[in-house]
This record gives sequence, C-alpha cells and structure tokens, in this order.
Amino acid sequence: MWDTKCSASRGGQTFVGLLKTIYIKAYKNAIIMNNKVGIGLIGSQFISSIHAEALKSVSDARIVAVMSPTKTHVENFAKKHGIHYYFNRLEDMLAMDDIQMVVIGAPNHLHCEITEKVASAGKHVVVEKPLCLNLNEADRMIGACKKANVKLMYAEELCFAPKYVRLRELLNEGALGKPVLFKQSEKHDGPHADHFWDVERSGGGVTMDMGCHAIEFFRWLNGRNAVISVYAHMTTSVHQGRTKGDDNAVIILEFENGVVAVAEESWTKLGGMDDRAEIHGSEGVAYADILQGNSIQTYSMKGVGYSVEKAGDTKGWSFTMYEEVWNYGFPQEFAHFVDCVKNDKTPLVTGEDGKAVLEVIFAAYESAGKGRKVMLPFHTDADKPYKLWLK
Ligand SMILES: NC(=O)c1ccc[n+]([C@@H]2O[C@H](COP(=O)([O-])OP(=O)(O)OC[C@H]3O[C@@H](n4cnc5c(N)ncnc54)[C@H](O)[C@@H]3O)[C@@H](O)[C@H]2O)c1
Repeated sequence: MWDTKCSASRGGQTFVGLLKTIYIKAYKNAIIMNNKVGIGLIGSQFISSIHAEALKSVSDARIVAVMSPTKTHVENFAKKHGIHYYFNRLEDMLAMDDIQMVVIGAPNHLHCEITEKVASAGKHVVVEKPLCLNLNEADRMIGACKKANVKLMYAEELCFAPKYVRLRELLNEGALGKPVLFKQSEKHDGPHADHFWDVERSGGGVTMDMGCHAIEFFRWLNGRNAVISVYAHMTTSVHQGRTKGDDNAVIILEFENGVVAVAEESWTKLGGMDDRAEIHGSEGVAYADILQGNSIQTYSMKGVGYSVEKAGDTKGWSFTMYEEVWNYGFPQEFAHFVDCVKNDKTPLVTGEDGKAVLEVIFAAYESAGKGRKVMLPFHTDADKPYKLWLK
C-alpha cells in the first residue's frame, strides 16, 4: 500500500512516512472516537447509585468497574448495575487500562487522597462536592491533575438541572432585566450516613454539605463574577446530640457586579428534600422549584413506597417525584463530563471552581464565628471549615 519509491523527503521524514504518521494518528483517533469512555466508580452507596443510573443513559460511557472497601456492598452494587469488575482496593481498579475516567463518590475527607492516586494513574477525575476539606487539599488536587495532564471535573449537578438551566437562560436573554438578588435553598431533615455528621470527616455541617451547591449555583448564574464578601449565620438547632456542625445556615454573598445572593440551608426540614431558587431582576422575577414544583401532589392513606429523597412518613399528603435523577441534572452532568474526556473539552465546572466554592465556605464559617461580614479573597490555613466557627 505504501510505495516508498515515490516518497519525497520533508522535514527529515519522507512524504510517504508523513502520510503514514497522519494515517496512524487519524486511525487511533477514530478508535478513540468510536469507543465509549471507560468509567471506574469509587463508592457503592448513595451517590454512587445515582452515578451508575445517570451513566447508563450516557451513550458514550461504559461503566467498567466499581471499587469500595466494603466487600458485600460492592459486590451487590456491581450485580445490581451489571458491572463486570468490582474491587476492594483502589490500586487494583486503577491498574485497568480500560478505564479513562474515575468518579469519586467517597466521603469528603477522602477526596484529596483518592484524587491524587487517580491522577497519578493517568485517569481523568470527577469528584463529588464539596471538592475536599481545605484550600491546601484543593491546591494539591488541582496540581496533581495538571501534572498528570488529566481533567479535574467538579460534580455540581445544579448547573445541569434542566429547570435551573432554563432559569439561567431567562436571565441571560435579558427577560428579567439586570440581576439584583438570587436566592437558593436546599433543605431536608439530615443526611443518611455517619460521616456527614462527624465534622472531622465532613469538614462542617449543612453549609459544607449543601451550601456548596448554592455557592456554585450562584457563581454559575452570575457568569462566575467574583464574590467580594460573605456574611453567614449558623446554628445547631435540633441535632446537638448528633453533630458539632451547623444544621441551619443563612449565607449572604455579595458579588463584584452588585448582585446579592442568599442561600438558606437546613438539615432540620421535615417532609422530604426541598431544592428551589429565585432570580429577582430590575424587570422581572422568576421562581424555580426542582422537586415540589415538578412533583405529583399525592394523598395516600397507606403512604407512598418512594416519594422523594428523605421523605420520611408519606401518609396523607406528600409530593411524589418522577425522574428525580433527571430533574437534578445528573445524566446531563455526566453526558457533559464524558464528552469533555472523549473530545478533550474544558469542563463547565472544574477543580478551580470547587476551590472557589471552598473559599466562600471558609469565609462563611469565619463570618458566623465572628458575627461579621468577611471580605474575599479569604486566606486561611484552617484544615476544616467548621473550626473557624467553633474556635
Ligand atoms: N451531588 C450531590 O447532591 C450529593 C449527594 C450525596 C452525596 N454527595 C457527596 O458524595 C460523597 C459520598 O456521599 P454518599 O452520600 O454517597 O455517602 P455514602 O456513605 O452513602 O457512600 C460512601 C461510599 O464511600 C465508600 N468508601 C468509604 N471509604 C472509602 C475508601 N477509603 N475508598 C473508597 N471508597 C470508600 C463507602 O464504602 C460507600 O460506598 C460525599 O462527598 C457527599 O458530599 C453528593
């Protein structure tokens, strides 16, 4: 096929040699383009189940393996989701050549250490919120991924939730005029697993756990304008026996462009998860409610098998979700991250965004501790946000 007789020299390489190189490159690219991105999941409980469900709907993704230290959990998880390989040791999963992207669904205190290992194995990283426990860890994660030339993708699904995407479009087309005030809140009656309640592993209470959603949501809505100040009030109102962390918080952000954003976070709200947002502009206002606003208003004397995350007792009136994972934007988020890996695109939400969120979280705990507004940039060597509040 390659006739060396008619080759001409160019830059030290024959013309035919050059053609060969181009052909091989194109051939390799075609293979990558035709292949699905191989995924390794870390964790086999709450959020990893959502990751597995979401990834099943991404046509360019293939879940190759799952890893988690609990033998029975990981085995059952693999069987349930039809995943061929499962491991108890991270190193074993990272040794698989078939995996290009690893999704971290482990507790907060493990995010940094696991990210560094995944990056050094040459795999792209998707890490659940919050990015990690402190700013030093954030720098280590960003540095490790840069050094290994892999992407660090920060999983903030609210930037992909279809209702919030439409809300942002309303703002961007000018339908609401100049933005003045944003509001976002997430509320339920408390997390399902011990590590969230243990501030040494989680880094903080509801501000760390759910405030991180609001902060990135505001930044994304506001075109990543800089946050210049934070004011926060935090209390442990109901769960004093269970955690040293905050179970209720109000956080006020001031942006450089004048927008004010108010986040309300609660671990004490009964009756199922709430997730809602408002945009108040100079020429309009828009309200969006991801869960109750998209649900079936249900009355049942017996109660509903499953209505919504953390619903509690569903006898009588409750709100029943349909397509909950889709309404949150998880499949859309994973379609985007897989596209970024496959086609070498820049992620919508990166490690740097996760670090910026963490900086606001630290400033919020400092503000709640000191009882005053805190200006950004905010530098701290604190190893966990809650320490700035309780010191
Ligand atoms: N985006 C969201 O809305 C959302 C929702 C829930 C949780 N999260 C985040 O996801 C992470 C996990 O939360 P969860 O609710 O799934 O917790 P979970 O307790 O339900 O699951 C944690 C999983 O991590 C595994 N694990 C523990 N130690 C490990 C280790 N050393 N190496 C690997 N895996 C390990 C456990 O075996 C378990 O499978 C947290 O960072 C949390 O903030 C995000």
